[in-house]
Amino acid sequence: MQLDRILQSQGFGSRKQCRAMIRHGQVAIDNATCADPFAEFAPEGLHFSVDGEPWQYREHAYVMLHKPQGYECSRAPKHHPSIFSLLPEPLVGREVQPVGRLDEDTTGLLLLTDDGQFIHALTSPKRKVPKVYAVSTKHPVDDAQLATLRRGVQLHDEPAPIAAANCEQIAERLIHLTLIEGKYHQVKRMVAAAGNRVEALRRIAIGGLTLPDDLAEGEWRWLEPADLERLWQAADA
Ligand code: URA
Repeated sequence: MQLDRILQSQGFGSRKQCRAMIRHGQVAIDNATCADPFAEFAPEGLHFSVDGEPWQYREHAYVMLHKPQGYECSRAPKHHPSIFSLLPEPLVGREVQPVGRLDEDTTGLLLLTDDGQFIHALTSPKRKVPKVYAVSTKHPVDDAQLATLRRGVQLHDEPAPIAAANCEQIAERLIHLTLIEGKYHQVKRMVAAAGNRVEALRRIAIGGLTLPDDLAEGEWRWLEPADLERLWQAADA
């Protein structure tokens, strides 16, 4: 594949922009500058650098982001900065999308990819991929509320009651709630329908993949092949 096409596929701009970057000597392969936009390389696994920043060719981009509070999962945010401002330009350039959005005030694990099939597989309620939320509540959680969440609550605009796939009390005002759907404000609405109120919400796992302790708020990282395998398995189960 031609170097200009490789760069374009990885989100570095239009072909014209990529050719210009290459001709300006901004691109290196194996630490040697390559100024020929038409030089051919096998893309799979190719390591290259742009302005000294190392990259690896990836057919699709799959990343996790530790979403902080006060960021919107939108490209055109209305009231807060966008989560896309936390990602490097080429990831935004290749149009990664969130795999299920989080509210502006929700923190935690957010996956992003440019693989539409992956997004569909992980978000379709039919695939039953579990998403685990740590829910801090305003009032102490009682047994009746836990039972209600497990049995199912009727949400406005939903045809049938929705139950938590799992619901565990961790502390007086902290539960871990597992959902297989991703409906609008689902956790907040379910907890409200059970007679309590969400004070803080954090997604801690998706399909068996947990938010790593060493990924600070606002940081992102590539998903490892083992992470992807686990997620695809969760969607196939
Ligand atoms: N449920 C909510 O209410 N908000 C989120 O951000 C995610 C799930």
